[in-house]
Amino acid sequence: MRIIIMGPPGVGKGTEAVVLVKQYHIPHISTGDIFRELYKDRTTVGKIAKEYISRGELVPDDITNEIVRHRLNHQDVKNGFLFDGFPRNTLQADALDELLKSHETEVSAMIALEVDDEVLVQRLLKRGETSGRPDDANESVVRNRIKIYYKQTAILKNYYFDASKYYGVNGVGSVEDITERLKAVINNL
Ligand code: C5P
Ligand code: MG
Repeated sequence: MRIIIMGPPGVGKGTEAVVLVKQYHIPHISTGDIFRELYKDRTTVGKIAKEYISRGELVPDDITNEIVRHRLNHQDVKNGFLFDGFPRNTLQADALDELLKSHETEVSAMIALEVDDEVLVQRLLKRGETSGRPDDANESVVRNRIKIYYKQTAILKNYYFDASKYYGVNGVGSVEDITERLKAVINNL
């Protein structure tokens, strides 16, 4: 199964993704995590990404798409994958479609987690106390990330809806409850 989990920052994509990939034995591809690793390893691309991330902005599409292109050449994606935090705009979604087409496959489903905005801001600021992510700790950066989500990413719901691949899931509840909701969607694909 080839799944995209999407939703605004702080909705719990990463948390749920970690649980799901264990159960379905597919790799978890978080472009945000990849950027943070590239930065930790002091690579040039990591340093460039960090500039954007620290402002709550999107890293330029050509950089992000190239990272994904590279990742999709690994053998472990043969039986599927779970994308977390990618695609984040229409151009990235187009790039993903093209990449998958070149591998003679396609996205199975895009599952959107939905949560109220103020809940997100509070969750992210709280996460910032322990996550070590500077982009979580600053309220204006957090609000900027949410704003960009609504400006650029949320329209992907229509993108995948038009392809009959969109599923919305209520993101309010315990981690376990939300996992069950997500599995109900996935097991029905
Ligand atoms: O997905 P995550 O919240 O970990 O991403 C952290 C940051 O990485 C985003 O706020 C954004 O600055 C950057 N990012 C991006 N494009 C992606 C994924 C992440 O620009 N596709
Ligand atoms: Mg995340």
